[in-house]
Amino acid sequence: MLSAPVSVQVPTQIVIFGASGDLTGRKLIPAIVEAACRRAFLAPVQVIGVDLRPLSSEAWRTELQPKIAASQLRIWDELAPNVHYHSIGDSSPEAFEHLRSHLDELAGPEHGVVGRLFHLALKPALFAATIESLANAGMLQDDPLRIEAWRRVVIEKPFGSDLATAQWLNLMLRRHLREEQIYRIDHYLGKETVQNILAFRFENAIFEPIWSSQNVESVEISVCETLGMASGRGKYYDGAGALRDMVQNHLMQLLCLVAMEPPTSLDAEAVRTEKVKVLKALEAFADPQDVWRNVVRGQYQAAGGDCGYLEEDGVSADSTTESYVAIRARIHNWRWAGVPFFLRTGKRLHKRYSEIVVRFRVPPADLFSGPTPADICRLRPNTLVFRIQPDEGIRLTFIVKQPGLGHIMRQATLGFDYKDLFPGDSPDPYERLLLDAVAGQATLFIRGDEAEAAWRFADSIRVGWNADGAPPPVPYASGTGGPGAADELFRGCEGVWGRGE
Ligand code: BG6
Repeated sequence: MLSAPVSVQVPTQIVIFGASGDLTGRKLIPAIVEAACRRAFLAPVQVIGVDLRPLSSEAWRTELQPKIAASQLRIWDELAPNVHYHSIGDSSPEAFEHLRSHLDELAGPEHGVVGRLFHLALKPALFAATIESLANAGMLQDDPLRIEAWRRVVIEKPFGSDLATAQWLNLMLRRHLREEQIYRIDHYLGKETVQNILAFRFENAIFEPIWSSQNVESVEISVCETLGMASGRGKYYDGAGALRDMVQNHLMQLLCLVAMEPPTSLDAEAVRTEKVKVLKALEAFADPQDVWRNVVRGQYQAAGGDCGYLEEDGVSADSTTESYVAIRARIHNWRWAGVPFFLRTGKRLHKRYSEIVVRFRVPPADLFSGPTPADICRLRPNTLVFRIQPDEGIRLTFIVKQPGLGHIMRQATLGFDYKDLFPGDSPDPYERLLLDAVAGQATLFIRGDEAEAAWRFADSIRVGWNADGAPPPVPYASGTGGPGAADELFRGCEGVWGRGE
């Protein structure tokens, strides 16, 4: 998606708030070590973990060591002297002043020309206070005359819990930072196959002419998971639900990449402006009835040895939080008017897979003895499937004549598998995104107005769910495809949800 491989060319400090948290150990540190293994750091890089509890740098490194893959231990040993821990104690203004002097001291005489990335791997409730404290300690100002001394902040999701909180957070961030300094993360944008959607669309001219309501009948975006509330996430999830946890961010991003107009370039402003246009054209649901007709929410029940959602740790016994949501959405613009976008995500489904299915219209007249009218409700001769995970690849289906004297038609598939053409692992999304943030490339991050536009849509669903008379979440058995009611979103003869086959 971006023109050149990203590398770090100026001395940099990566300052991670939430050093003891799960994300730091599971994702951030391994991503930094992986980047070091790829020799992406062409200039000195220091990693400073910040958290409340007192701990020595040595003790932090010892805690991190088990997270490092055996094959990377040699590089970890090289990096380790540059990995430090800083206790922020009571988070007082003095504690932040102290952090500032510690960072300057670690940078040595070069401290005037070191770039600093503050990665807030924190609970969302702490974002605002942390930014405020960093600003008050004078740590967020950069110097336009010394571009190496940049200051940037990475904010983890969830960015707010609705439109109002996202707007408030944006206002607060902009009091202390320019938009170019703010990197709102969505790890889906760091996935290779997600980036490839744009490459596929805009580097192959053959698809663009058919990429509109004239030829596309519907688009499906499914992100299905088999996991339930793993690693003690029940409490967080019960306050969020699938709509906030997955739809507002990951599914909205996938939708934008499929539906956006060609940007004038791949720079951050051009790409994000086009994405915002899609989100603005995405019709918010007009009233509760509109939501009830077009959105199905579900909650998994015990089955096959797995407990039900309500029995999960941290989940309240009478919770109505949705572990599944399916949406029939509309984009009101010239390209997509009249084309339903089917969005679906859920926990404890039959299979873990994420894919985008573009279903093209059936031919206007059937000259051969093609599929029966019953089949045509299911079968679309031409579909283009972007498999995002696992078994990453792209598939195009079409109809061929089965050899023989009759006229029997069969569906055939042209396929491309990433692993065949590109054996070996792709960078983890966090490695890609961290390096981009350090390099000042914001294309794969969410702009403030983009987050707000996505919340506007998600909130319109929540209003319907909170209205009097709203149907409760539909139960579905764990390990199945989700509630059958979601099939009705296809309104009879417009196809069916994919099965990830
Ligand atoms: C996270 C959600 O953002 O994405 C999780 O909070 C979800 O609930 C995860 O499981 C899915 O990410 P991936 O990369 O495993 O598809």
